Amino acid sequence: MLSLYSPAKVNLFLKITGKRDDGYHALATLMQTVSLTDILHLSLAKEDSLKCSDAALPTDASNLVLKAADLFRRKTGFKFGLKAELEKNIPSEAGLGGGSSNAATTLWGLNELFDRPTSTVELAQWAAEIGSDISFFLSQGTAFCTGRGEIVQEMPIPVPQKLWLVKTHERLSTPTVYKNVVIADLPERDAGYYYYNDLELAAFQLIPSLADLKEHLLQLGFHTVVMTGSGSAFFCIGDANPEVLSLPFCTPVSFLNRSSDHWYSL
Ligand code: C5P
Repeated sequence: MLSLYSPAKVNLFLKITGKRDDGYHALATLMQTVSLTDILHLSLAKEDSLKCSDAALPTDASNLVLKAADLFRRKTGFKFGLKAELEKNIPSEAGLGGGSSNAATTLWGLNELFDRPTSTVELAQWAAEIGSDISFFLSQGTAFCTGRGEIVQEMPIPVPQKLWLVKTHERLSTPTVYKNVVIADLPERDAGYYYYNDLELAAFQLIPSLADLKEHLLQLGFHTVVMTGSGSAFFCIGDANPEVLSLPFCTPVSFLNRSSDHWYSL
C-alpha cells in the first residue's frame, strides 16, 4: 500500500483574462501548494473502492479519486481496480483545490504502483481531461497557470512564507462563482506580482458576509487577506490578534514544494 500526502493550494494571484467560447474563463494565476494536506492510501485490488473520513463527500465514481483511476486505466490500457482510503483535512468548496489534489495524487500514486510507465509531464496532460486544476498539482508546487488553469509553467520555488488559512462555514461551488463573474466589472490591474483574486467580487456578491470577514481579518492585524480560488477560504499574511483563533477554521500553513522525483512530504 502507498500512503501519500495530498496538499492544498492557494492562488497567490488570480486574474481573469476573458471568457472563452467553451464557457470556461481564461486565467492567469500563480498557484502554490501549502502544508495543509489530506492523506491518501492506495493499493491495487480487483475493483475500485473508496472510503473517505468525511461522510459528506461522495465515494462513488463521481469522486475525483475514482475519476483519476479511470483516466489512468483508459490512457494506459492497464486492467486494475483501485482501493483508496482518503483522510480528509482540506475543507471542501473552499477554493483550496482539495479534490483536484486528490486526483493528482491518485495519478502519481498509480504511476508508482505500476513502476512508472509514464512521465509526470504526461500525467499532467492527461489530468486536464478531468479538471482544470489537477495538472498544477503535478508540478513541483509553484507554477504560473494559464488557459483555464491547465497550462502549467513551473516557477522557481519562492522564499518560505507563513500563511494563515481561514474560513467560516460558508461554502462556494466553483461553477456558481464563475457563473457570477461579469467581465466588464473586473478591476483594471497593473502588471506585476502581488496578491489579489478577481473572483472575490463574484463570490462576495453571492455571500456578502465574506466581504465582512475579509474586513474583519484586516482589522485583526493581517496586512494581506485574499480569497483563494473560487472561495470561500482566505489566505492571510502577517500577525493577527489571537481572536482569529475563534473562527470555525483557522490554521497556519507554510509553502510546500516537492523535488522532481518525489511526491510532497511534510
Ligand atoms: O475544470 P473544473 O471541473 O475544475 O471546473 C469546474 C467549473 O468551474 C467549470 O465547469 C466552469 O463552470 C468553471 N470554471 C471556469 N473557468 C475556469 C475553471 C473553471 O469557468 N478556468
